[in-house]
Amino acid sequence: MAEEDPFSEAPVITAKGLRKMYGPHLALDDINLEIPRGAVGILGPNGAGKSTLFKCLLGLITTTSGEGSVLGLDIRTQGEQIRSKIGYMPEYNALDPNLFAVDQVRYSGELLGMNSKNATQRAHEVLEYVGLKDQRYRKIETFSTGMLQATKLACALVHDPDILICDEPTNGLDQRARGFMLQTLNRTVREGNRSVLMSSHVMDDVQDLCDSIVMIHKGRIVVQSSIEDLVQQVDKEIEMVIWGGASKMESELSSMGLENRRLGRVIRIKMESESTVEKALQAAVSAGVQVRQMKEYEPDLEDIFLLVMDKLGAQIKGTEDLMTSEHTGGD
Ligand SMILES: Nc1ncnc2c1ncn2[C@@H]1O[C@H](COP(=O)(O)OP(=O)(O)OP(=O)(O)O)[C@@H](O)[C@H]1O
Ligand SMILES: [Mg+2]
Repeated sequence: MAEEDPFSEAPVITAKGLRKMYGPHLALDDINLEIPRGAVGILGPNGAGKSTLFKCLLGLITTTSGEGSVLGLDIRTQGEQIRSKIGYMPEYNALDPNLFAVDQVRYSGELLGMNSKNATQRAHEVLEYVGLKDQRYRKIETFSTGMLQATKLACALVHDPDILICDEPTNGLDQRARGFMLQTLNRTVREGNRSVLMSSHVMDDVQDLCDSIVMIHKGRIVVQSSIEDLVQQVDKEIEMVIWGGASKMESELSSMGLENRRLGRVIRIKMESESTVEKALQAAVSAGVQVRQMKEYEPDLEDIFLLVMDKLGAQIKGTEDLMTSEHTGGD
């Protein structure tokens, strides 16, 4: 199309046929990616390959085969340049417990090539940005998990990168700290106009922050889509809370050709057309049930995801299968 579309920018990260083996263990298999600007969630259970993917993209570990680029730089040969342009918040705590927070963040900046004066000035700025202004001169060994995660974020932001890669930034955080972390990342994307790539095994985190998701399962990408497109793929449903004779209601709906699923007193009916509402009410009358509540059902990301998986015929039977450890051993 000739029209200028602000969202049709080139992807910031790409991968083509990327594979990573740890000895005989295949951790990433045939990864093909195009990550747009904005906030992208990398979802997957423990051992799926999220951290491995990040490390490959940052050029921290060598890939077994395939290729990839970050901001046009080759992940196989230009790792150092990539890391100077990207903020990386690793999964594990690599902070020095004996340092004051401000010195730790300044040190990170210096390691990334900043001069001492700039690094010091930025360390103060970013610590304030992540909510640690008053804790700048406290030793890291006295920090809570939430403060440690915030310090890691400050280290990742010190050189004002274009892209931020955060490996499970909400891990171990309580509700308040989690909310603050997501809010800070949101600000970085919406106000700072930066891109964030965040891994998580919590759907809610991703729904709060991201425009699109990449789902990894056993080293392979199973879904790569904008959240908007995922929502489109899901059939609209009407949700009815009924009283008395739910199974009768179920058979009444089915005999009228209305697809439905029941969860106790709640029945969800697939919205085929405008007349579905009317038909559903007729079914309730015929079944002699009371309708206590009726509304359009709004699926959350988790529902959507499971429905999409179902459609794809993926071997994922439920959230537990999807979001819990695979325990392949060998860590
Ligand atoms: N250094 C390593 N040596 C050998 N195997 C490894 C190594 N690092 C990771 N693996 C294996 O590769 C697979 C992917 O691991 P990875 O850490 O990338 O998963 P993840 O999705 O980040 O998991 P988590 O949610 O637990 O952080 C796992 O089976 C893991 O055991
Ligand atoms: Mg990981």
